[in-house]
Amino acid sequence: MTVTRAPIDRGRFSNKTVFIMAAIGSAVGLGNIWRFPYVAYEGGGGAFILPYLVALLVAGIPLLLLDYAIGHSQRGSAPLAFARISRKLEWIGWWQVAICVVIAVYYAAILAWSTQYIGFSFTQAWGEDPEGFLFGEFLQAADNEVTLQFVPAVLIPMAIIWIVTIAVMALGVQKGIGATSVVFIPVLLLAFGALVVQALSLPGAIEGLETLFAPNWAALLDPAVWASAFGQIFFSLSVGFGIMITYASYVGRKVDMTGSAFVVGFANSGFELLAGIGVFSALGFLAQASGAAVADVVAAGIGLAFVAFPAIISQAPLGALLGVLFFTSLVLAGFTSLVSILEVVISAVRDKLELGRVQATLVVTVPMAAVSILLFSTTSGVLVLDIADYFINRFGILLVALVAMLAIAWGVRRVPSLAEHMSRYGSIRLGRWWVVLVTGITPALIAIMLVLELVTAVTTPYGGYPTWMLAVFGWGTAGAALIAGILLSIPKWKATTPLDAPQHDEEVIR
Ligand code: ALA
Repeated sequence: MTVTRAPIDRGRFSNKTVFIMAAIGSAVGLGNIWRFPYVAYEGGGGAFILPYLVALLVAGIPLLLLDYAIGHSQRGSAPLAFARISRKLEWIGWWQVAICVVIAVYYAAILAWSTQYIGFSFTQAWGEDPEGFLFGEFLQAADNEVTLQFVPAVLIPMAIIWIVTIAVMALGVQKGIGATSVVFIPVLLLAFGALVVQALSLPGAIEGLETLFAPNWAALLDPAVWASAFGQIFFSLSVGFGIMITYASYVGRKVDMTGSAFVVGFANSGFELLAGIGVFSALGFLAQASGAAVADVVAAGIGLAFVAFPAIISQAPLGALLGVLFFTSLVLAGFTSLVSILEVVISAVRDKLELGRVQATLVVTVPMAAVSILLFSTTSGVLVLDIADYFINRFGILLVALVAMLAIAWGVRRVPSLAEHMSRYGSIRLGRWWVVLVTGITPALIAIMLVLELVTAVTTPYGGYPTWMLAVFGWGTAGAALIAGILLSIPKWKATTPLDAPQHDEEVIR
């Protein structure tokens, strides 16, 4: 029997544990720590458990299983895996790659700010006014205008973050991504666990938790709450935008992929719950210390991490420790997510151009680092970041997830054979339940949610920004990712790249 060997050694995770650690590392990121607590609070507190669990079980885990099935059966980066399923679908993979390019360039900026804030925790550089300090002295943010002046306090840590990231990526799948995740994830758990314990011991913590968990059942009647539960799960679980396809392509043939998906899904949600407890305990303290209601101090994203937390750090006993634990957790969680986002791009370029690992890493990351630094270490960085993040999450990730599902389910009708592939060595069989979800229920729910998001985006322009900014950095970025996906799928694969998925272990295990 002749066995066609893949032309390049794509690399692989050495065992299931490393793969699971890397997948959890990707899933647990900024989304868990700074987005989830607020989304849960706003979405009905204790009552949010219902839409959240529905989103996890009906969309998050089924889509994670689909991503795993595509990557593991086709053993390729997102574009190669889709091309192997059908040459007509390759553009979807490149669209995912383009979305990852957008996310990576701003994600690195947030890591750079967090790194700086580890140091600021000792000096309390923000003084009495964390908000004024963040947007003024630190970011020197332009007020709704584009002024591309460099801010050295951001530029230097960004350059460092990119150099470290490039080094890790150049080391490859196992020695770079795998090894980093195996070290960072336990350290993250320890650091964040310690933060939760410290936060719980603060006066006011209980009021904070009561505010988070008090169920507001009426919120469940609001479709926007359901939409935000789905949005949260997708971003947080890293599903639908190429990451899990890429990681699964580096896993040995006989690994239990279905069981792994449930482990990753529940580990990610477990961490979100932990983050909710830690963040709201700390917010409860802030409310008590400033004589306000918890509802008046809650914040999300940038406001939570770089405004509310500094205020907490300034007033809490052992505040510096709390700050170091919080910002270190952000850096650790964010870093293992950033490498996973970049791997989608590097892996795709490697597969297409048949480049060596180091060469592909440099070809991809050096231009991305340049764009990232040029755009986000300037006075307009925070503004572009906020708009791009909002739009790429909705009209990038959600949309591409829907299109990919419909294409696999109805375009090429591959869901039953993918179910069979996953069930062969999986501890949990993907039976009819999964086929029904992936071909019908999940895409229908995502479609409804996307329409809701579209109506909101059109009727209530995001964040009060000028229309032209939303058009360029929001709609423009999301649209450009789609167009880039289509254009990148035009060049042909090299004759040496087999467009049939490898069938035998010998071909992938060297
Ligand atoms: N899943 C990653 C996060 O939650 C991207 O931030």
